[in-house]
Amino acid sequence: MSLPIQSLLSADQLQSVLRPVGEARGMPNAAYNTEEAFRFERDHLFAPNWTAIAFIDSLQAGEARPVDFLGLPLLITRQRDGAVNVFHNVCSHRGFQLVDTTRRTNGLLVCPYHSWTYALSGELKATPHIGGVGVHNLEGFRCADHGLRPVRSHVWLGVLFVNLDGKAPTFSESAATVIDRYRRLMGPDGESLLRPAITHGGASIDVNCNWKLALENYLEAYHLPFIHPGLNSYSPLDRHACEIISGNCAGQVTASFDPGLDRANPLPLFPGWDPERLATGEYPVLYPNLLLGFQANHVFAMIVHPVSSVTCREELMIFYAGDAANDDCYLGERKSNLDAWTMVFNEDIEPCERMQVGRQSPGYTGGAFSPVHDVCSHHFHQWVAKQYLAAGSAN
Ligand code: FES
Ligand SMILES: [Fe+2]
Repeated sequence: MSLPIQSLLSADQLQSVLRPVGEARGMPNAAYNTEEAFRFERDHLFAPNWTAIAFIDSLQAGEARPVDFLGLPLLITRQRDGAVNVFHNVCSHRGFQLVDTTRRTNGLLVCPYHSWTYALSGELKATPHIGGVGVHNLEGFRCADHGLRPVRSHVWLGVLFVNLDGKAPTFSESAATVIDRYRRLMGPDGESLLRPAITHGGASIDVNCNWKLALENYLEAYHLPFIHPGLNSYSPLDRHACEIISGNCAGQVTASFDPGLDRANPLPLFPGWDPERLATGEYPVLYPNLLLGFQANHVFAMIVHPVSSVTCREELMIFYAGDAANDDCYLGERKSNLDAWTMVFNEDIEPCERMQVGRQSPGYTGGAFSPVHDVCSHHFHQWVAKQYLAAGSAN
């Protein structure tokens, strides 16, 4: 097997990640701090899987939004009928980046270079002067052959995912176990009741670390007593357990979530939520880049956007059951909920950034895992190593 980035890390190093958790090493430093690994992961880890890129509810009808996919230009559009599309953000004429900032449109996208014009569905509608001044059509040139190039997409839990290489099993197949598990936990109508909070609903956090460290930190509760003393006081480490949910999903489950039913104006619960599990909170990561939190009265999703090999941006959105997302009578509850979560996520910044600094050290060669607390982190490392190895065997 030869890895396309063989000079940076070896198959032996990857094999050592696959060993049982008590013996395994983590992914080598080069996977965290080199542009080569970043590009490699874009093409061999993100592109073949379903990557989260945006929250669907934040897109207005008529909107066109450019998205940077680890350096590749993509474009999300929302048609007036609500349909959402993802395209490569490049004009079919001379390859001009079609949209450079988010904008509301009248339903048409005009390329600034020579004014070729596209519908938000991606159809090429006009090619001004293509056949000479005042001649807007050309014999043998069919607009139907030159529309924007679509990217395969899917929406789940208000999150827009793309499969860039178009070859993955459908999202519903890829995440079947995860979808089923949370449908059962939230109840059959849970997903349809999810609404993003219109106030105090989200946050964006820039972290100076490789995207994988943000996931690894979320995958373990070992650090709770040391980094999150507040959280640990109401959701202590000994009430958490690691759970492997599927080949591409793992996370923490806590048995001490407080739905706040004794509060003056408690947030409504999802009506179909398993009544035996009101005190359960689940915090899975759907690989490669979506952190989730499920509780009886709210769900949150955090997209981890890889920005460079050593930086990422976390984008959070909190969802409630129906009107709890917009009713003013829950404004205080929504605010205190967002405040509590952002405090936790802000506390996680320093550990992630200092793990990144540690990845510069030749004295660190993947480290070790606690066979009790790091089971999910190791599961993720294994998943990453398998993506690398699969890319190598395909060469
Ligand atoms: S590159 Fe877009 S119209 Fe020419
Ligand atoms: Fe944390």
